[in-house]
Amino acid sequence: MSEKLSIHGQWSSRLIFILAATGSAVGLGNIWKFPYITGENGGGAFVAVYLLCIAAIGVPIMMAEIMLGRRGRQSPINTMTALAREENANLVWSVVGWSGVLAGFFILSYYSVIAGWALAYVLRAASGVFEGIDATGVQEVFNNLVGDPERLLAWHTLFMVMSMTVVARGVRAGLEKAVTYLMPALFLLLIVMVGYAMNTGYFVQGLEFLFEPDIKRVFERCEIVAGMEQCELSGKPVLVALGHAFFTLSLGMGAIMVYGSYMPRKTSIARSALLIAFLDTLVALVAGMAIFPIVFANGLEPGAGPGLIFQTLPIAFGAMPAGQFFGTLFFVLLVFAAWSSAISLIEPAVAWLVENRGMSRIRAAAWIGLTTWVLGLGSIFSFNLWSGDEYKLFEMTFFDLLDYLAANIMLPAGGLLIALFAGWVMSSQSSRAEFAMGGVAYQLWRVLIRFISPLAVVLVFLNAVGII
Ligand code: PFF
Repeated sequence: MSEKLSIHGQWSSRLIFILAATGSAVGLGNIWKFPYITGENGGGAFVAVYLLCIAAIGVPIMMAEIMLGRRGRQSPINTMTALAREENANLVWSVVGWSGVLAGFFILSYYSVIAGWALAYVLRAASGVFEGIDATGVQEVFNNLVGDPERLLAWHTLFMVMSMTVVARGVRAGLEKAVTYLMPALFLLLIVMVGYAMNTGYFVQGLEFLFEPDIKRVFERCEIVAGMEQCELSGKPVLVALGHAFFTLSLGMGAIMVYGSYMPRKTSIARSALLIAFLDTLVALVAGMAIFPIVFANGLEPGAGPGLIFQTLPIAFGAMPAGQFFGTLFFVLLVFAAWSSAISLIEPAVAWLVENRGMSRIRAAAWIGLTTWVLGLGSIFSFNLWSGDEYKLFEMTFFDLLDYLAANIMLPAGGLLIALFAGWVMSSQSSRAEFAMGGVAYQLWRVLIRFISPLAVVLVFLNAVGII
């Protein structure tokens, strides 16, 4: 029997699949988002919950997504329809694909705005703005940037054009090479930053903040009010940790599914998923180890929010030897990390337009790019024109709301449906054949995907709305 392939092509090797999926997983989520949400949610306890979510929920769902994608060999929407048909199930399962496409739009619209900040910082680092800068100076640089909608718009536009260009050319021709060299370079540079952080005198404090879980804080959310810390009971940090496990691994919206549909048949799904999750987690933790010592050494606030890395790392670049060079390189690599993630955010939608509307990749990418670009305006204004309380809903700006909805609700909900489909709707013959994995490993996956992952997601949801 000849092997069924995706009409969009196939990765040239096993290694390329791993690189592309790691490129999707490692991005702003690891270096920008992980540190700031860890800071906002109290540190070690949050990190512990996040690690647990990666292992018990993220890895099994990643295996499920790759498996479904490789079996369906189409865009997530059509893959879900085809697999539901194959298993004689209700075709409404295609909703997994649809909600994924929507989540992809939402996420990319603000992801591109933040990637725009990184682009802007390349110029600032290269022109020596950070030389000898202190905490106040760097806050000024940051506020000047995000306070100016026109500048943000220009950078957002540039990043969208970059991303659409690669998507239009096809994932394979586009970023394969970049991912091969640039991801390892980014990692090395983060290690250099950790080296700097070790000399701040606050390294241990940074490590304690990240790795010392104060278990009672798992269900607490604290704020500094008039110089005093006030804590209240809340399920929110746990939900944010779960949402971030999905976000950082690119799960719950079909990105990994669509990459799986281009995966060669011989590749081991389990080993790939474990490796990708390991590398992704490593990058996030190393980023945290570089950033928090700098935060404490400079008397900054760990809960400073989305600007955290943009207000901390420049201080380090400004003080270290050859900081101008390292700083520039760092932000260039951060842009590449964001780039290789951005393309995976819209690949599900592009693949669907090509399959169902007969569009060329170029047209599909152009349409999607335009829509996302417009939505991005809302996030741009969230940092300036619309930052006031009168523009907030549930105390959140448009950007906060979009991120909360997509990352903390849509991705876990998508992941829940994927787990239920892979574990309960799909016959064990089908999934076992696709994994080509027997014995204990398969049984373990099956228990996790049928019981543990869905139950955990449901419990976290119920906890967050205050029912349990
Ligand atoms: N995983 C990416 C990051 O951590 O930056 C973000 C992302 C990419 C989320 C692709 C979801 C996705 F489908």
